[in-house]
Amino acid sequence: MSENNLLQQVQALAGSEPVRFGLILGSGLGHLAGSVDGVAIPYGDLPGFPHAGVSGHNPNLVIGTLEGVRVAVFGAREHYYENGNPAAMRPALELLQALGAEALIATNAAGSLRPDIPPGQLMLLGDHLNFSGLNPLIGERTDRRFVPMGDAYDPVLRQALQAAAVAEGVALPEGVYTWYSGPSFETPAEIRAIKILGGDAVGMSTVPEVILARFLGLRVAAISTITNMAQGMSDEAISHEHTKAMAPLGAAKLELVLRRFLRDLQQTS
Ligand code: HPA
Repeated sequence: MSENNLLQQVQALAGSEPVRFGLILGSGLGHLAGSVDGVAIPYGDLPGFPHAGVSGHNPNLVIGTLEGVRVAVFGAREHYYENGNPAAMRPALELLQALGAEALIATNAAGSLRPDIPPGQLMLLGDHLNFSGLNPLIGERTDRRFVPMGDAYDPVLRQALQAAAVAEGVALPEGVYTWYSGPSFETPAEIRAIKILGGDAVGMSTVPEVILARFLGLRVAAISTITNMAQGMSDEAISHEHTKAMAPLGAAKLELVLRRFLRDLQQTS
């Protein structure tokens, strides 16, 4: 099915009023999709969308309003480690662009390399390190592939999210997110290397989506929920079960910040 048909299919179900923001939900954050007043479309009905999500994800696209702002919430992502495709989220992001979105807000679960950003806290991405060596634009034939990444994480959106966090009394320190391919977790030596390179958090997603979103002309913001200290930084064992168990702590804070961000946006626009 062509991209146009997908747009028509989605608009037939959810209406054709433009969407302002896209939101990708990370591990353990799926319940946020339920906060949106709108239409839920199973990924399985959407050609090009990832099918089986990682456990802890809720694979629906929900289009509707949150705090009065029209949003498209992607309840799951396909990670590179699932099928070896760094561009797996391209059809979803192309749809987001076609729906009229101005920006993507990506969320994820991540391990922290900063003792001052412990599990349960949020981290706003200020920049990233692509530790995977992969790129979702490899194979793209047009010169549009040479995407500048200077302000990939939009300074205006970052400021607005920081202001929303202050208003909600939620700590939102900014840091550098490092994309590690997964699905195995990092070794202690890899974490030491990432620390030396300037990484503040580590996770298995988001970076390819940010590159694709910038390629598509979308502004980007991204927030990590810290579920654990990175390997070798604490005695606590790291596991996917632990990630899923810890994510709701950050998810509650994330929801407060996002709702306030959207409400404030309504008042200023
Ligand atoms: N490493 C990679 N991905 C993660 C981690 C981690 O420590 N925690 C949650 N996702």
